[in-house]
Amino acid sequence: MALYMTSPNLFSFAFGIGTQNNQGEWLEVYYPVPVFQPSAADTQKLSDVLGHAEGNKEYALSNDLLDQLADVLTDSRQIEILGMLKDSVKPCVACLLASDSPITSTPEAYLKLHLLSHRHILPNQIDLTDIFAQLPTVAWTNEGAIDIDELTDAQIRVRAGGGILEVSSVDKFPKMTNYVVPEGVRIAHTARVRLGAYLGEGTTVMHEGFVNFNAGAIGPNMIEGRLSQGVVMQAGSDLGGSASTMGTLSGGGSIVLTIGKDCLLGANAGTGIPLGDRCTIEAGLYITAGTAVLLLDENKAPVKVVKARELAGQNDMLFIRNSQTGVVECRTNQNAIKLNAALHANN
Ligand SMILES: CC(C)(COP(=O)(O)OP(=O)(O)OC[C@H]1O[C@@H](n2cnc3c(N)ncnc32)[C@H](O)[C@@H]1OP(=O)(O)O)[C@@H](O)C(=O)NCCC(=O)NCCS
Repeated sequence: MALYMTSPNLFSFAFGIGTQNNQGEWLEVYYPVPVFQPSAADTQKLSDVLGHAEGNKEYALSNDLLDQLADVLTDSRQIEILGMLKDSVKPCVACLLASDSPITSTPEAYLKLHLLSHRHILPNQIDLTDIFAQLPTVAWTNEGAIDIDELTDAQIRVRAGGGILEVSSVDKFPKMTNYVVPEGVRIAHTARVRLGAYLGEGTTVMHEGFVNFNAGAIGPNMIEGRLSQGVVMQAGSDLGGSASTMGTLSGGGSIVLTIGKDCLLGANAGTGIPLGDRCTIEAGLYITAGTAVLLLDENKAPVKVVKARELAGQNDMLFIRNSQTGVVECRTNQNAIKLNAALHANN
């Protein structure tokens, strides 16, 4: 599904620092500044030092390799990072992706999630095949990532020292902000945005909002509801309090949703069909693909009943459930929303 061409250069590379379990298996990797589609010159120098011939691979970085890489690379920020990784008590790694292909390791999975959250690539435009197999389920604690099988020992150790180990989640995906904080965003509750989310400039995620990996808001956007995996929302749209975009990971849905520009999903509303630009769904109304919808003309006269899936992706739709008849109606949206400019210009 790779939409980006594999060039003779690398698809991406990054230097990272991470956590391994007692067996030396990776639990997570932090890449401060991943490089997307690096220059041929840097690719060559990097490959020479690491002995990289082909494929997607990771290399343990000793102090000696960190020095050698700093000597040959030209990017001053990468050279700084290499210097800061020296003498690290945690394992350091270089991850090189020759192509955008199915994921074969934990460091590779983390690099791809970083590329999304750093806005190098849009959701659904990078191959995440096998990501669940390559991401271990980890206990995310105030001491960092801990292997589930090693958690009890860690808890005993911390308690014996008079402390308490805070386990904030047990999950494959960490929260994004411990890895990437994109410019110009506000996130009221950081645990609600997973690494691999794409948050564009000017986006606000309120406490009730949630953004999954490989989901995103192009920005500026207001997110007070849930953006499911794969869903992309275009500029100017507002996902109201607890509104829902139907996902495809479980529950049988198969349509990957997009929400166009200047749409409003009212509080507790939801959609299982893609929406074009300037669409509004009334608060509390959930449109599924099979919902029977009565189309109204400009004079609000009934035209015909269609399944909502037939309206997928169309612009300027206003959906309400008529409170007197219970019928779901769709008419031309005359009053598309505008985001509060002051709110989003000052992130
Ligand atoms: C669907 C919605 C956008 C319509 O709002 P609106 O365009 O301002 O429409 P109004 O409330 O002015 O209603 C227009 C007319 O339709 C009628 N109407 C509105 N909703 C109706 C319904 N569900 N059933 C029957 N009639 C309805 C109104 O009574 C009014 O009738 P009138 O012209 O005879 O006075 C609005 O009800 C809504 O759900 N907004 C979402 C807000 C939100 O949740 N934001 C996120 C916050 S977190």
